[in-house]
Amino acid sequence: MSLPQLKNDVFLRSLLREPVPYTPIWLMRQAGRYLPEYNATRAQAGSFMQLAQNPEFACEVTLQPLRRFDLDAAILFSDILTVPHAMGLGLDFVAGEGPRFARPVRNEADVMALQAPDMSKLQYVFDAVSLIRKELDGKVPLIGFAGSPWTIACYMVEGQGSDDYRLVKSMMYQRPDLMHRMLEINAQTTCEYLNNQIRAGAQAVMLFDSWGGVLSDSLFQEFSLAYTRKVVDGLIREHDGKRVPVIVFTKGGGMWLEDIAGCGADAMGVDWTVNLSRARTRIGDKLALQGNLDPMTMFGGEEAIRREARRVIDDFGPVGQGGHVFNFGHGISRFTDPEAVGILVDEVHSYSRRHHSV
Ligand code: CP3
Repeated sequence: MSLPQLKNDVFLRSLLREPVPYTPIWLMRQAGRYLPEYNATRAQAGSFMQLAQNPEFACEVTLQPLRRFDLDAAILFSDILTVPHAMGLGLDFVAGEGPRFARPVRNEADVMALQAPDMSKLQYVFDAVSLIRKELDGKVPLIGFAGSPWTIACYMVEGQGSDDYRLVKSMMYQRPDLMHRMLEINAQTTCEYLNNQIRAGAQAVMLFDSWGGVLSDSLFQEFSLAYTRKVVDGLIREHDGKRVPVIVFTKGGGMWLEDIAGCGADAMGVDWTVNLSRARTRIGDKLALQGNLDPMTMFGGEEAIRREARRVIDDFGPVGQGGHVFNFGHGISRFTDPEAVGILVDEVHSYSRRHHSV
């Protein structure tokens, strides 16, 4: 089946550090609970998993933010925890409490029983990707994604979100051999998972290392970055004659920009603690940068949103040989007023033109 020509390639071109007329923008968690139409579809589906596992529903909520805002990319509606769910850990989203696994990985026997899942268990994700590509009709590119091996391991061991990462770090310090085994399985699975998303039509892919920043220096490199690199090394980088850019995002990774820049990705996502100009000096325009507005800026009113957006764009500065994709430094808050998102997109598109030469 041949797909329609892409009408807006500003996002993909920025990731590849090619000249563009303005700074493209999309937002982490752009489909989600801050949109009333998302909540309506979620209620219709019944639960988060029923929403994510139904390609029609997943397609609908992926497209919802694009109907409201002039965003430059769509992101597949799914979750990073679909991978451990496919490994048999039993994912559930408890209302108001976030994700929970019925069978967390806590000891040697649990780790030894872990296996890379059959990709047919994740077919609903690949079906959603194909359907979204068709329905997008070339409007903007589609981003596929997965969690990093380390971030997924955090949930697999803790069994849910955590404040102190006590269980996963206990395993890492007591039995690094078990941790490495689990990360190896996660890396292999994640690579295969993303490659299937690319074959189904994802035009860029992003790895979320949301909890890499909780590790100490040297353990970050050993237990998180090394496995991120393994995933990146095995990815399909060209599909249908087009380069498929890879974005790696480590929340709290500001100390390790040079290390992360060496992992083979085309672009690096950074949180709001990083100054984009200094980041460029440190990594030398080797990769594009994605970020990095504090999502809480959205609660500051119109003037603050416009001012802070301009500050991020000015911090990056003249684009030249670099590439900048505007985003938040982490996911949008569910309490965000959708109107504030419209203001942000408008400011980024209009103000950024001064830093682009085409
Ligand atoms: O960005 C998008 O719009 C695409 C969809 C997407 C979701 N989760 C949907 C979702 C993406 C890219 C994710 C990634 C994800 N999921 C991450 C990495 C990014 C990050 O924020 O650090 C992580 C750590 C998860 C795990 C997860 N999923 C948690 C902790 C929670 C509960 C807390 C929360 O933020 O709501 C989820 C649930 C989830 N995933 C929701 C959405 C829209 C809300 C669920 C609901 O409808 O009740």
